[in-house]
Amino acid sequence: MHTATAQKRTETKFMAVHLDSIRVDSVLDFNLYIEVNKRLVLYRSSNLAFTDRTRQKLIENNVERLYIESSDRHDYQRYIEKNIGRILNDPEIMQDKKAGILYDTSTNLVRDILSNPTFGDNIQRSSDIVASTVDYILQGREAFLSLMKITSFDYYTYTHSVNVCTFSIALAQQLGYNDDQFLNELGMGALLHDVGKSRISERIINKRSTLTPIEFEIVKKHPKWGVEILEGQDSVAEASLYPILQHHERGDRRGYPNGLSLDEMHVYSQIVAIADSFDAMTTQRVYQKAVETYSALKIMFSLKGAYEDKILRVFVELMGPTGLDDI
Ligand SMILES: [Fe+2]
Ligand SMILES: [Fe+2]
Repeated sequence: MHTATAQKRTETKFMAVHLDSIRVDSVLDFNLYIEVNKRLVLYRSSNLAFTDRTRQKLIENNVERLYIESSDRHDYQRYIEKNIGRILNDPEIMQDKKAGILYDTSTNLVRDILSNPTFGDNIQRSSDIVASTVDYILQGREAFLSLMKITSFDYYTYTHSVNVCTFSIALAQQLGYNDDQFLNELGMGALLHDVGKSRISERIINKRSTLTPIEFEIVKKHPKWGVEILEGQDSVAEASLYPILQHHERGDRRGYPNGLSLDEMHVYSQIVAIADSFDAMTTQRVYQKAVETYSALKIMFSLKGAYEDKILRVFVELMGPTGLDDI
């Protein structure tokens, strides 16, 4: 009997990566492919150096996009995380490309974290990516705007987490907080604010219809679960736990889990509460149509006392040309 024909062929799957994300003279643990006549061909095997000449040749041939085998996804992700600082500070890379690489790297990382928050060095990796995001946002308004342009409008917990982190850091900076420790602790709390949702079943998270009272009681536990997951982790400052526990608190005492007033909320929580509500309203969920920026801000202002007034006003300034007078 011919066994070869009986063997199942497994087809290699690929994913696209930015040319700008591959650093010259760095060691790659994965093969690179390019598209030629609608087919992917091996361009550089992992044992060959990626030199400046290689890069220039690709640019001359208008190749912007490379491919890697999907099974190398994790090696690529680690590689990018290691090099993200250099990429973001490279004057030869366009602002929107940097934003794209940072956004993809952060969302892929948070996706890993939500499936297993304390696995390996996941938490340390988040603290590194937050530091890069802080550096990037501190480069100026243009950097923030290019990140804003590419934020996903589809709602997934991992894209939402990255959006909330971006908004929170930019909002704090706009408020005048330029201290590195402040921005990093806040950014970490914002990026991981919904990490407690990793304990909730997908069925509830993605449910299209209204949650039953029992399901809602489960969802309301995610702030406390987030703290339980991260408490005692070396890379998480204690202050970063405040926005994780308090981001659903509202100044009018209608929030959860503890019905706090504004004064009782940490400043990190006041910031993250605004970023979180805004992103939740303006992204498209399975059960909810996204509302426009202007309408979302209007709704937030109408909830008198729910958010810290000055922070909300500065958030409006940050989000663009909409004048406060119109709201
Ligand atoms: Fe939440
Ligand atoms: Fe959230």
